[in-house]
Amino acid sequence: MRIVCIGGGPAGLYFAALMKKADPAHDVTVVERNRADDTFGFGVVFSDATLEHFARADRETHDDIVRAFAHWDDIDIHYRGTVVTSTGHGFAGMSRQQLLDILQRRCRSLGVHLEFETEVRDLEAYRDADLILAADGVNSAIRARHADRFGRQIEWQPNRFVWLGTTYPFPAFTFIFKEDVHGLWRVHAYRYDAQHATFILETTDATWRRAGLDEASEDDTVAFTEELFADELKGHRILKNRSLWRNFPVVRNARWSHDNIVLVGDAAHTAHFSVGSGTKLAMEDAIALSRALQRDRMVPAALEAYESERRPEVESLQRAAQVSLEWFETAERYQRLEPIQFAMSLLTRSLRVTHDNLKVRDPRFVATVDRWFAEGAARQTGIPLPTTPAPTPPPMFTPFRLRDLVLSNRIVVSPMCQYSAEDGTPNDWHLVHLGGRAAGGAALVVAEMTDVSREGRISPGCTGMYKPEHVGAWKRIVDFVHRRTPARIALQLAHAGRKGSTRRMWEGVDEPLPDGNWPLVSASPIPYFPYSQIPREMTRVDMDLVRDQFVEAARMAEAAGFDMLELHMAHGYLLASFISPLTNLRTDAYGGLLELRLRYPLEVFDAVRAVWPAAKPISVKISATDWAPGGTTAADAVRVAARLRAHGCDAITVSTGQTVPYQRPVYGRLYQTPFSDRIRHEAGIPTMTVGNLSTHADANSILAAGRADLCVLARGHLYDPYWTRHAARDQDFDLRWPDQYLSVKSFTPRAR
Ligand SMILES: Cc1cc2nc3c(=O)[nH]c(=O)nc-3n(C[C@H](O)[C@H](O)[C@H](O)COP(=O)(O)OP(=O)(O)OC[C@H]3O[C@@H](n4cnc5c(N)ncnc54)[C@H](O)[C@@H]3O)c2cc1C
Ligand SMILES: Cc1cc2nc3c(=O)[nH]c(=O)nc-3n(C[C@H](O)[C@H](O)[C@H](O)COP(=O)(O)O)c2cc1C
Repeated sequence: MRIVCIGGGPAGLYFAALMKKADPAHDVTVVERNRADDTFGFGVVFSDATLEHFARADRETHDDIVRAFAHWDDIDIHYRGTVVTSTGHGFAGMSRQQLLDILQRRCRSLGVHLEFETEVRDLEAYRDADLILAADGVNSAIRARHADRFGRQIEWQPNRFVWLGTTYPFPAFTFIFKEDVHGLWRVHAYRYDAQHATFILETTDATWRRAGLDEASEDDTVAFTEELFADELKGHRILKNRSLWRNFPVVRNARWSHDNIVLVGDAAHTAHFSVGSGTKLAMEDAIALSRALQRDRMVPAALEAYESERRPEVESLQRAAQVSLEWFETAERYQRLEPIQFAMSLLTRSLRVTHDNLKVRDPRFVATVDRWFAEGAARQTGIPLPTTPAPTPPPMFTPFRLRDLVLSNRIVVSPMCQYSAEDGTPNDWHLVHLGGRAAGGAALVVAEMTDVSREGRISPGCTGMYKPEHVGAWKRIVDFVHRRTPARIALQLAHAGRKGSTRRMWEGVDEPLPDGNWPLVSASPIPYFPYSQIPREMTRVDMDLVRDQFVEAARMAEAAGFDMLELHMAHGYLLASFISPLTNLRTDAYGGLLELRLRYPLEVFDAVRAVWPAAKPISVKISATDWAPGGTTAADAVRVAARLRAHGCDAITVSTGQTVPYQRPVYGRLYQTPFSDRIRHEAGIPTMTVGNLSTHADANSILAAGRADLCVLARGHLYDPYWTRHAARDQDFDLRWPDQYLSVKSFTPRAR
C-alpha cells in the first residue's frame, strides 16, 4: 500500500511508524513543511492511562517516551495568595521536540521516508497513493479544501491564550489564578524536562485588551508575563517560540474521510488544552486507524471502521473538554469561592472526576474538603458537627437551612405527577408514594405539581388545591410524613396553562384529551402542538383570578401543614409561558422584554409570599433554557433568578426546556447542573439541581464544588425509593432507620 502522511506532527509520524511496522512492504512517506528539529510549542502531557495504550501499540516508542518523561502526581492550584495541592493524578510531561525526535527515529529505523521542508500545496502529486493522511494540524489546508465534504465546523472560543515556556520547572501540574488591575489571569503550567515547563497564559478578551496585549509583540508578552508572575517564577525566565496570542478553535467534522483522504489528530478534532489531550487524541487516532487498516485492507471499509470506532470516544472527550474550557472562560464567576472549594470546582470541572475518584487519588484532600463543607453546613444551620470519633459526614449528609426549615441532608425527591387523583384529591396512592419516599431517607419530598384550579390541571388525574376537601386529603399525607419519618414535605403549586386538558402520561404525553376537555388560558393564544387546543390569551381579569387562586392554594397548603412551597415556573406551564418569548407574544405590559414577561410571574410570587408564613421557604422551579432558537437562555435564567431572589425567593430549582415541542435539548449525565452552577454563582441564590443525577459520587461532587445546595432526583426515586438509605450504606454513613426496620442492620445485600 502506498501511504502519504501530510504533516509530521505526532499523528502523522506515529501513524507512519505503526503502518510500516505492521507491514514493511507498505511504502510510507511523511511530508513536513518544517525542518526536523523545528517545532512550535514546548511540552506535552499524557496521563498514565494513555501511556498504557501506547505500550500496547508499539513498545519501542513507548519505552523511549517513558525514559524521556518528567512524571508527577500533584496538582497545585494558586489562588488568592494560597496554594492548594491535590495529589494522585498520575501525569507525565515531555518536550514536544523530544517526542517528535523519538517518533522520527522510529520512522527512520522502520524505513519510512521522511521529507522535511516540503510544503504540500495540492494533492495532485500524490494522486496514485492508496491513502492520504491529512495530519496537517489544526489549520489543516486539506480539510479547508474539502470543507463541504468533511462537514467542517470551527467554533472560535472567546478567551485569549498564548503558549509560552519557562526555565522554572514547576514541581507539579500548576494552575495559577491571579488578579491584577486588568482582570483575572489563568496559567496552565507543567514541567516537560528537568529545567523547563510549558506556561500557557489565558484570559478574557476584555482583560487582554485592557492590558494592551492586543498590540503586544512577543517580547512585550514575555516581559508582561515575567513581571506579573515574578513570585511564582521565582526569578526564572519566560521563553517564547512563535508565542502569539490566539483564540482556541474547537474543530469538528461531520465526516473524517473523503475518497482516500482521512483526517486525523487536530485536523479532525480539537480538545481544549486544559484537558491536555490533543497529542493523546492524535496518537490514539493513529493507533485506531492503523489497526483498522490491518483488519481490512479495503481502504473505504477501513476508514469507515476507524471513524465508527473513534468517533464516540473523541466526541466524549470533546464534551468534557468543552465543559472544561467553559470553566476556564468563566473562572471570574468562581472568584468568591474559598480556596478549597475553588480547587474542588476546578478539579471536578468536567464532571468526570468525582468526589469518589478524588477520594481514591487523594483521600486527604477529600477529607479536607468534606470537613470544610461540613463545618460550613454546621454554621449555616446551627447544628453542631458530630463530635469525634464520629467521621465527618460526606457532603450529601450535611444539613441545610432555608429560613426556619432545616433539612437533615441534601437529597430531595423531585415532584412527580402521578395522574392518580380524582377531581384533584390525593388518595392512598399518593400517601404510599410520598410516604414511602419520605421513609427512604431523602430530607425533603416535594409533592407533585398540584394545581390551583380544576381548569389549571394538566390531566383529569392531577392533584389540586382548590376544594376544601383537598386540605384534609393532603393533611393526611403531610401528617404521616411528619409523624413517621424525619423528612420534610413541600408542595409544588402550578397552573398548567396551554399544556392543560391532556391525557395521563401513559396515555400520551401532552396529547389533548379525546373528550371532556376544558378551556385553556395562557400568556398568548398559541397551541402546544399544532393540533392542540388554542388557549385564550389571559386578560387582566383572568390574571387576577389565577393569582388569587395561587394565594388561596398557598393558604390551604399552610392549613395542610406543608413545610415549604415550590412555585412551578418551568416546563411551559402557565407562569413559564409568560417568561419565554416563544410562548409570550403579548404587546401589553406583560410581554416584550424579559423584565415585562416576568411581571406576572413575580406578581403571583409576591402575592403567595405575602400569605405564606415568613418562617417557611418558597422555591421556584424554572427552565433555565428553552433549548430552542429565539427562546430563553442561561443568561436570561440568571436574570430571572436574581429578580426572584430580590422578591424573597429562597431557592431556584434549575430545570430546562419542555417549553415547546420542537426543543433540541442536549441530554447527558448531569446535563442541567452547569445551569445550576451558573445561576448559583451569578445570581447569588441557593439552587437545587435536577436532571440525570443518579450516583452519590455525583451528589457529593456537585455539593462540595458549590454547583448546587441541594440535589434533586426524580426517576432515581421512582426506581429506588430508598436511594438515600442505599447511598448511606454504600458510604458507611450511619443514617438512622425507622425503628420498625432496625433489623435491616444485620442484613447484607449481596447484589450490590
Ligand atoms: C497551547 C496549547 C497547548 C497544548 N498542550 C497540549 C498538551 O499538554 N498535551 C497534549 O497532548 N496536547 C497539547 N496540545 C495539542 C497538541 O499540540 C496537538 O493536539 C497535537 O500536536 C496534534 O497533533 P497533530 O499531529 O494532529 O498536529 P500537529 O502537531 O499540529 O502537526 C501538524 C504538522 O503538519 C505540518 N503541516 C501543516 N500543513 C502542512 C503542509 N501543507 N505541508 C506540510 N506539512 C504541513 C505542520 O508543520 C505540523 O508539523 C496543545 C495545543 C496548544 C495550542
Ligand atoms: C413521572 C414524572 C412526573 C413528573 N412530574 C413533575 C411535576 O409534577 N413537576 C415537576 O416540576 N417536574 C416533574 N417531572 C420532572 C422531574 O421532577 C425532573 O425535573 C426530571 O424528571 C429530571 O429529573 P430526573 O433525571 O432525576 O428524572 C416529572 C418527571 C417524571 C419522570
